[in-house]
Amino acid sequence: MRGGGAQDEALAQMSAKTGLLVFGGGGQIGHELCRATHRSGLGVTGLGHAEVDITRIDDVLKAVGESRPAVVVNAAAYTRVDQAESEPDAAFTVNRDGARHVAEACREAGAALIHLSTDYVFDGTKPAAYDEDDAVNPLGVYAKSKEAGERAVREALDRHVILRTSWVFGAKGGNFVKAMLRAAGEGDELRVVDDQFGCPTPAKQVAEAILAMAPAVAGGKSGTFHFSAAGRTSWHGFAKEIFVRRREITGQPSPSLRPVATADRPAPAPRPANSELDCSRLAATFGVAQRRWRHGLVDVLNELLKA
Ligand SMILES: NC(=O)c1ccc[n+]([C@@H]2O[C@H](COP(=O)([O-])OP(=O)(O)OC[C@H]3O[C@@H](n4cnc5c(N)ncnc54)[C@H](OP(=O)(O)O)[C@@H]3O)[C@@H](O)[C@H]2O)c1
Repeated sequence: MRGGGAQDEALAQMSAKTGLLVFGGGGQIGHELCRATHRSGLGVTGLGHAEVDITRIDDVLKAVGESRPAVVVNAAAYTRVDQAESEPDAAFTVNRDGARHVAEACREAGAALIHLSTDYVFDGTKPAAYDEDDAVNPLGVYAKSKEAGERAVREALDRHVILRTSWVFGAKGGNFVKAMLRAAGEGDELRVVDDQFGCPTPAKQVAEAILAMAPAVAGGKSGTFHFSAAGRTSWHGFAKEIFVRRREITGQPSPSLRPVATADRPAPAPRPANSELDCSRLAATFGVAQRRWRHGLVDVLNELLKA
């Protein structure tokens, strides 16, 4: 992290009271962020979906107004990528309108906002990693609703960071790791796509990055940034690593894994063929380094398999 007067002042302000207010506190990233913030000693209020629905502007205004945090994190989202194709209104109401409500509430309360977004804002046609200046071209309904949310945040609030991440997994919530462990239990050969590439990212690493950025964001840093763990792979490569590590932890044999093309495993939502994120701007601005996703995977598997 870089030091600086405004940042030190912001850190002192964050330590004093509710440093962070987290919407979507019950989700993968929200949960890890609340855990990490507690450990750091900073004040944090995590609000789950049942406590505040971000589609209800009055509730969002009240929550931010009462808590008066230095930084709000919007980790609440409609994240069911395939289901979104058949319920676009639900996806846009949360991911665009809800995001706007959170940004407007921050503006009213004088708070800064870290808003989470996704690698899926890109169409995947670029052969190299995407940086923040690359043109967006979201393919499916979920992706379009998240991109619309980014625009809503930029329009409503100057003091914001949009943080795009990718392929998130953790011990809590639904994700690819848990889907693979479940599917392995069913005993059949697993057919996993090997022509979509990206960077799996432990929710805990996203949480730690947010925590490291927060004082500088409170102190006025803003813009769009990318953060993922280090290491590009396909879903098939990710699955292979999950079962290698599971065997090391439990001794259970790996299921038979067959690589297949996206075209042979059709899903309702289109997905980018490449969504690797270039995270160098985040490193240069906030001093947040990437760590390899494989390390985080072992931690998550230990938590899931030894529970
Ligand atoms: N998961 C990924 O692979 C991935 C990849 C890139 C970016 N992201 C982004 O990262 C952020 C967090 O994702 P995540 O993986 O932590 O998602 P998640 O586990 O699905 O968590 C999202 C949370 O938002 C809550 N929520 C949904 N609608 C809400 C509403 N109207 N008001 C308040 N809360 C609401 C959900 O509660 P319910 O479950 O009760 O609805 C859930 O607890 C999202 O912005 C997502 O787009 C995720």
